[in-house]
Amino acid sequence: MKTKVGIDRIHFYLPPKYVDMGLLAEARGVDPNKYLIGIGQEKMAVTDATIDIVSMGLNAAYPIIQEEDKDLIDQVIFATESAFDYSKAAATYLHESLGIHAFAKSYEIKEACYGATAALQIACDYVRLRPERKVLVVASDIARYGLATGGEPTQGAGAIAMLISKNPSVLALEEDSISLTDNQYDFWRPDYLDYPLVEGKFSTQLYNQCFIKIMEEAANKHLDLFDTLKGLCFHLPFSKMGKKALQAYQDYLNSKEGSLDPKVVLAFNRWLEVYPDLIQIGKQVGNIYTGSLYLGLISLLVNGTALNAGDKLGLFSYGSGAVAELLVGQLQVDYRKALKLEDLNKRLAQRQELSIEEYEMIFSEKLPNDGKTHLLEPSVLPGDFYLTKIDGHRRYYQQYKTQTD
Ligand code: HMG
Repeated sequence: MKTKVGIDRIHFYLPPKYVDMGLLAEARGVDPNKYLIGIGQEKMAVTDATIDIVSMGLNAAYPIIQEEDKDLIDQVIFATESAFDYSKAAATYLHESLGIHAFAKSYEIKEACYGATAALQIACDYVRLRPERKVLVVASDIARYGLATGGEPTQGAGAIAMLISKNPSVLALEEDSISLTDNQYDFWRPDYLDYPLVEGKFSTQLYNQCFIKIMEEAANKHLDLFDTLKGLCFHLPFSKMGKKALQAYQDYLNSKEGSLDPKVVLAFNRWLEVYPDLIQIGKQVGNIYTGSLYLGLISLLVNGTALNAGDKLGLFSYGSGAVAELLVGQLQVDYRKALKLEDLNKRLAQRQELSIEEYEMIFSEKLPNDGKTHLLEPSVLPGDFYLTKIDGHRRYYQQYKTQTD
């Protein structure tokens, strides 16, 4: 029998500040229901300058790395499209701060929101060949389109960390997957721009097209998936996106009525049923780019009362540009125990709401780039890592300790 490999631990870091989407809509002169219902977002996570992809990634990974893992982790793979350095990988900071052994390798991966999925598969393949070893995968991003832009209500920030091992506690991943590349300009960011360029409507259409192509391929080559997949997780740039893809798929199915295998129709109905569980957390956060698919997975695992160990889930990954892939995983016996629910609920409850003026001020803040020494004040919760100093264009991180710590 093949060794099972997959996600042994998974953890989400939520930044401590947010903006209410109803208030943002009012400030932008938009009917709040467009953001709350049409786009499907209630709150949007906001970061200030002391919270960057490294500090978020560290905060996601720190709680799931135990002492004995440090000598077993051979790779730290960091997926992001919000890098602040063209050369040095964000993973190198995590490698040091988490105390991973010196002979591990650490690097960064990019393909828009698809990056973490590539990282996850590299990690699984590595462990399949070396079942005693582990790999840490981190997805960390700050999604920003600019103030008062069309993309503004689909911003957000956060990080996901996943520890990959044999006999995982959460989700065992299958080796086979269906992937697709289509060279397009739906969302991209040339190196001279602060924010991405986006063809909003086209991006949603392309997402739908990629989803339908992948499902067509699944129906042609892996029809059994339609029998076995209890739920389907989507990359969720906003909570309505996966629903739009399912609707586009339904239109496609209707156009084929008569020639369709009934399995496909039944599967579609099952996926629609669990969809509300998938979006519960993301609605309170926004787009976290490459971690979004995995935030949806956490939400489904936390809220999906109809799920049981042994159920199979599909993971539909999409990254603009565009690359898409459907992975398949099987829920493991201890998957509920492995989720740090108390921590997530505490963080959601402890967040500080920003006024629109405060959000706009934070949004426009920039870190000094003069190469001098700058000490930065923490804005995170006690115990969290933050960017504490910039000195000679180098970044330094530490945990925020209060006097009582
Ligand atoms: P928009 O043009 O402002 O919004 O852009 P809209 O006019 O399409 O309206 C949105 C929805 O609200 C519509 O529903 C309206 O009917 C509805 P739909 O037709 O879609 O079902 N609506 C209302 N509903 C209730 N009450 C009302 C009301 N008014 C309108 N009063 C868009 C929306 C998402 C395009 C924009 O925000 C955007 O460009 N976002 C960024 C791009 C994006 O997220 N694209 C998604 C696919 S690409 C992707 O996922 C990759 C990505 O994550 C990047 C990466 O890979 O790195 C983005």
